[in-house]
Amino acid sequence: MTGDTTYPPLVKAALRERAASDPHRPRFHFTAPAGWLNDPNGLTRRGDEYHLFYQFNPLAPVHDRIHWGHAVSTDLLHWRDLPIALAPSDGPDADGCWSGVLVNDGDVPTIVYSGRHGDHELPCIATGSPDLVEWTKHPGNPVIPSPPADLDIVAFRDHCVWREGDLWRQVIGSGIRGQGGTALLYESSDLREWTYLGPLLIGDSDDRSRTALDWTGTMWECVDLFRVDGDRTASDILVFSAWDDGVTHHPLYWTGRYEGDRFVPERLHRLDLGGRFFYAPQTMRDTDGRRLMFGWMQEGRSDAASIAAGWSGVMSLPRSVTLAADGSLCQYPVDEVAGLRGDLLSAGPADG
Ligand code: FRU
Repeated sequence: MTGDTTYPPLVKAALRERAASDPHRPRFHFTAPAGWLNDPNGLTRRGDEYHLFYQFNPLAPVHDRIHWGHAVSTDLLHWRDLPIALAPSDGPDADGCWSGVLVNDGDVPTIVYSGRHGDHELPCIATGSPDLVEWTKHPGNPVIPSPPADLDIVAFRDHCVWREGDLWRQVIGSGIRGQGGTALLYESSDLREWTYLGPLLIGDSDDRSRTALDWTGTMWECVDLFRVDGDRTASDILVFSAWDDGVTHHPLYWTGRYEGDRFVPERLHRLDLGGRFFYAPQTMRDTDGRRLMFGWMQEGRSDAASIAAGWSGVMSLPRSVTLAADGSLCQYPVDEVAGLRGDLLSAGPADG
């Protein structure tokens, strides 16, 4: 189950060689060793190390048969590749191990992810070794056998999981046909059996033009619920990536209050001005309380150019997220990024 041993070494070596020789390969943004990268997943810190998992196709720079790639860093800037954490296998994730998160169940690291089978996804879990390198899929996957029967949903994937009192809660990204995107709320005592509690919030896909830069889409991908504390106030934040019929639009967030089984929205905001070029963000709380966010920077190159280069997709620099005085989010590159600076350059007199 661990290691990327399922693929012929020669294919990987050739792809890596091609990807490594590309002069357009970023020098300090994280990229996969070769092949395809999309969303950040399972962000966590263990001891001195940050773990970044990500949506990964090691075989080709195309979105297909998605695995969970894995890298670690002590400074959020220099990453060391580790063996693939999850690979598709017979069963509910035969066609891909899609996005999810990592939580600590007591001292057992546990990944909650979306197993893709055919053109549907269902929630699955895997438990990890203490160093987060070896992962074992739960034999009872999927842990939620179907989406809620009373809803006509567009899709059902991506997870935000947290502990509340003695129980686990999670929201799963979805969309209700004819209404809009939504985050469906579930509760569990053991991460393996889940009770559906209802939609946390339902968007309205008709409340603004479909071309608006803050259109909320017909489905919400990569939902993320967290609280940020400002100097004087705190706010609950619900981040999602607006999706519609296969098109990734942009990440947005609601400020508001998470109360009981509902999110009471106050304002909708754009998370980034780059549209789909900062997409599917995920956050984690650092041990010092910082809220860190990574997002997937989608390719601007053509598919043919990525295929020729041997790699596709870039991880954003990590951002630190705080609450601004006006109640919106303030984002800036983590302080560690200053460590990338070299000699100060200044413009000299022009010669001749
Ligand atoms: C977002 C997304 C997720 C899904 C994953 C598949 O970019 O479409 O909704 O889990 O990517 O790779």
